[in-house]
Amino acid sequence: MCGIVGYVGQENALDFLLNSLKVLEYRGYDSSGVAISSTDHKINVVKAKGKLNNLINLTNGLNIQGNVGIGHTRWATQGVPSDINAHPHSNSNCSVAIVHNGIISNYIDLKEELVSKHNIEFTSETDSEVVAHLIGVYIEEGLSTKEALIESTKKIKGSYALSVISKEDPGKILLTCNDAPLVVGVGKNKDLYCASDSAALLKYTNQIIRLKDHQIAELSGNGEFTIMDSHNGDFISPEVQTMNFDPFHLDKGEYKHFLMKEIHEQPSIIRNLLGIHLDQDLNINFEGLDEAVFNDINRIIIIGCGTAYYAGLIGKYLLESFSRIPCEIEFASELLARPILADERTLVVAISQSGETADTLMAVKSALSKGARLLTITNRPESTLAALAQNTTILIRAGIEVSVAATKSFTAQVVCMYLLSLHLAAKVKELNPEELKWLKSSLRAIPLIMEQVLSRAEEYREKILPFANKTSFIFLGRGINYPVAMEGALKLKELTYVQATGYASGEMKHGPIATIDENVPTVSILLPGPTYHKALHNLIEAKTRGAPSIAIVADGDKEATREANVVFSVPELPRADEFPHLQDALSPFVSVVPLQLIAYYLAEYLGKDVDQPRNLAKSVTVE
Ligand code: F6R
Repeated sequence: MCGIVGYVGQENALDFLLNSLKVLEYRGYDSSGVAISSTDHKINVVKAKGKLNNLINLTNGLNIQGNVGIGHTRWATQGVPSDINAHPHSNSNCSVAIVHNGIISNYIDLKEELVSKHNIEFTSETDSEVVAHLIGVYIEEGLSTKEALIESTKKIKGSYALSVISKEDPGKILLTCNDAPLVVGVGKNKDLYCASDSAALLKYTNQIIRLKDHQIAELSGNGEFTIMDSHNGDFISPEVQTMNFDPFHLDKGEYKHFLMKEIHEQPSIIRNLLGIHLDQDLNINFEGLDEAVFNDINRIIIIGCGTAYYAGLIGKYLLESFSRIPCEIEFASELLARPILADERTLVVAISQSGETADTLMAVKSALSKGARLLTITNRPESTLAALAQNTTILIRAGIEVSVAATKSFTAQVVCMYLLSLHLAAKVKELNPEELKWLKSSLRAIPLIMEQVLSRAEEYREKILPFANKTSFIFLGRGINYPVAMEGALKLKELTYVQATGYASGEMKHGPIATIDENVPTVSILLPGPTYHKALHNLIEAKTRGAPSIAIVADGDKEATREANVVFSVPELPRADEFPHLQDALSPFVSVVPLQLIAYYLAEYLGKDVDQPRNLAKSVTVE
């Protein structure tokens, strides 16, 4: 949620810190700060509440020089967003500065101890400040910064990624982590970097080393570094990974917002994914995936949060319909609220764009402790989640998703769920070969159809803006489009802050219909398929109670077009005349795009911060 960066080398640290914090601003944006070890061995700390631009403006007026520095962008968990609560935090004489991601769960006890034994005065309301004081106390007792960090980690409990500079070791950065990601970047000209999200380093290096829990890294100005296991003191030879992300993803290009750019990237991402996994003869191939993970499974549990959960819910429909393997889906946080019923015949499919969502990681670890198998679907090969499933990860290959609201990662996750369920269907021989062939070849048609949907964006804008004064919406979908309705409502909530609910169309009459009146538009997904007429009936029920009705329909639709007040039409999907039960199987790809655009256009019209909505952060690394 928060973002950490650090630099040690020959250049002025401030330039790197501000540039890389700009990249990480999507991780948290309520305050930010830097600490730079200056050439005269002072530590200069500058912090500012609000967007990163406030910090940039503040540092513009100061001449901060120094080749060693750390920086942070914050998403407040403990202590309100403010200059004082912003990181870096330092000890009383500012001889130590730290930046921290995570939560120090025993910080109250440590604070009491530091106050009573060492007369320390705390300035912030944060849990993180205790770490700066603890390290400072150990250094005063004669330890080196590294030894002081090791001793401090023996006392602190919770999750942390920590980056530390001190006057005692002016040319160095010390790093450690536990249940929170942190990477070292190895650059040219003896430059060394650190970041909690490797995206921050893309413009500087693609060579990264992911720190494992309890490792301590010591980065020096001469380009040398060591990594040590703090538990046994052994030095570790680092595993250097090459990042394959294209820095292009960090640029908005011709678009006003990353969100719009990312919505438009969807067809090419899907084309690329299918090119990799679905060959000319329509064979599905997951090269490098250990197929043993599927042996003898009798149950699947899909885990995710937010948008990843909705992609998983589509996956449940597909896996159960195509492979007939019983499949449950759980919000990761809820799975942790009771004992997990999983064993060695359970396949857990964990979906996470970032691969760092704390709830998802905890739920996965809990399922693994019961002996479950693990398959992960993520965008980040260097993530903690991917590390838990080294030969059983499917990458969604969506490129860095900068906008906080997930769009392209959703459709890429859904493609992976289709490929996975068709792969399993072929193994268990549940679908007949003609059905399989139709599904796979229709999947190939999706990128082009999505491009056609996107070419209607302007038309959708004109149709939705008259609803910009509405303060409550209900999104309705049935069957495989029920998760899409919930995803549409989530996008609208996140981007416009307007109340929006996603419901299964058939559930409306069981209660939510009471909330309906002329001020509550319904947005119904009504694409051809087995649920069409029932869903249309549900639209009419709502309309009868006065709700303005918006419908997502296919070109040529007559019935819904007659009933709805406004229709957003999308091109027809390949016809499944021989397999009518499959007619809507691929419809989420086309139904979700108008919903993403509706949320975007309303938010833009209402003047909202489209790429960084209030209160949110990309990658939720606290439980
Ligand atoms: C919605 C959104 C969030 C994330 C959720 C899971 O637009 O971005 O709901 O989908 O926090 O994040 P990942 O996929 O990184 O685990």
